[in-house]
Amino acid sequence: MKFIDEIDSEKYIKNKRVLLRVDFNVPIDYRGLIADDSRIKEALPTINYILGKKPGQLIIISHLGRPGGEKIQKYGMEKVAKALEKIMNKSVYFVDDCLKEIPEDKNIVLLENLRFYKEEENNNKDFAKKLAEKADLYVNDGFAVCHRKHASVHSVTKFIPGTAGLLVKKELTVLNEKWENPVVMIIGGSKLSTKLRLIRNIINKYDNVLLGGAMIFTFYRAMNMEIGKSLCENEYLMDAKLMKNNPKLILPGDVVICEDSEGKGNIKTVPVENIPEGWIGLDLGEKTIKDYRKKLKNAQTVIWNGPLGKFEIEKFNNSSLKIAEFLVKNKKKVIIGGGDTLKALEKYKNKFYYASTGGGSFLSYLSGEEMPALKALDENEVEFFL
Ligand code: 3PG
Repeated sequence: MKFIDEIDSEKYIKNKRVLLRVDFNVPIDYRGLIADDSRIKEALPTINYILGKKPGQLIIISHLGRPGGEKIQKYGMEKVAKALEKIMNKSVYFVDDCLKEIPEDKNIVLLENLRFYKEEENNNKDFAKKLAEKADLYVNDGFAVCHRKHASVHSVTKFIPGTAGLLVKKELTVLNEKWENPVVMIIGGSKLSTKLRLIRNIINKYDNVLLGGAMIFTFYRAMNMEIGKSLCENEYLMDAKLMKNNPKLILPGDVVICEDSEGKGNIKTVPVENIPEGWIGLDLGEKTIKDYRKKLKNAQTVIWNGPLGKFEIEKFNNSSLKIAEFLVKNKKKVIIGGGDTLKALEKYKNKFYYASTGGGSFLSYLSGEEMPALKALDENEVEFFL
C-alpha cells in the first residue's frame, strides 16, 4: 500500500480535488458539545501535508456516532467544522449534506456526517461512486474505521485512485514493529466475547496475558465459583473453560467488590474465591496489582487493551492507574489502544510509547483479522489507474 507522502504530489495532489476520509468520531457531551478534540488533532499532519501540496480543493469526510441512516442533530458535523477551523486557524466550509454539490471556490470543505445515509454502512456502491465523483484522489486516514466495510472506506476505492494518510501510516508502523521480548499483554474490559479473538490470536505469541475487567468473572463462573451479581456472559462459559488452563493466561487473585454496581454501598476487597452472594466485582485488589507489577517487571513491551476496573467510577479505576504509574516509572515500552482504555488512562496516555487512535480497529488488527478498508486500498493503489 502506498502512503500519501510516497505518491507524486505534482501529479496527484497539486490543483486536484482530494477526498480525505478521516475519523472525526469525537465524543459529544450532554450539551451536544465536543468533549475531546484529539481525533481532530490526529488528522492534522495529513491535512497539512495535503494543503502544503496545493490541492485544488480538500474535501474532508467522516462519520460521527451511530445515527443509523437518520439525520440526528446531535450527530451533525457543523460543530466539528467549527472546531477544525479554530484549530487550524483557516476557514473550513461546511456542506450540510455529504452528497450535495460543493462550491468550487472553497479551499477546505467538511461534508455532513456520512452515516446520515444508511448507504454508508451498507457499503452501497452508488453512494460510494457519488462520493468518489467529487474528487480526483482519495486518501484514507481514518485508522479507527479501517475495520469497517463501509462505503467511504471500502467501495469508494473502486472508483477513484486511493492512498493512505499519515495517521494510518503511523499506526501501522507501530503495530507492525517487531516488539522486543518479553511481551506482556494486559487485557481488560467488561465482555469476554469482544476479546476472545484477541486472546486466541496472541496467547501463543506473547509471554503472558494479564486479565482484568469484568470479563474475569466469566472465567470464575466457568470454574464453578460464586461471583455474586458480577457480570457474566453465560454463552461464553465454554470458551472460558477451554482457555483458563493455559499457563500464559493470568487471572487476578483478589477483587474489590461492592453491594451495588454504582459503588454507593459497602465496599471491600476479597480473594476471588470469597465473593459473597449479591456483591459485584468492580476492580482488581491490591494483591493482584502487586502480582501484576511483578509479572510486568521484566517485560520489554507491554500491549494494553481494556480497563481493569469500572473506570467510569473514579475509585474503581485504581488498579488501572496504579499499573499505568508503575509502567511509566519503570520506563516500559507501552502501547495502548481502545476508546475506554484511553479514557481510563487519560492521565498517563501521553507518557506511553504509543496510544492508538483505534478502538475496534486496534482490537481487530491485533486479533489478526482482515481490515477491509486497508485491503481495498491495497487492491486499488494509484498506480492501478495509470
Ligand atoms: C471508533 O470510534 O472506534 C470509530 O470511529 C468507529 O466507530 P464505529 O464503531 O461506530 O464504527
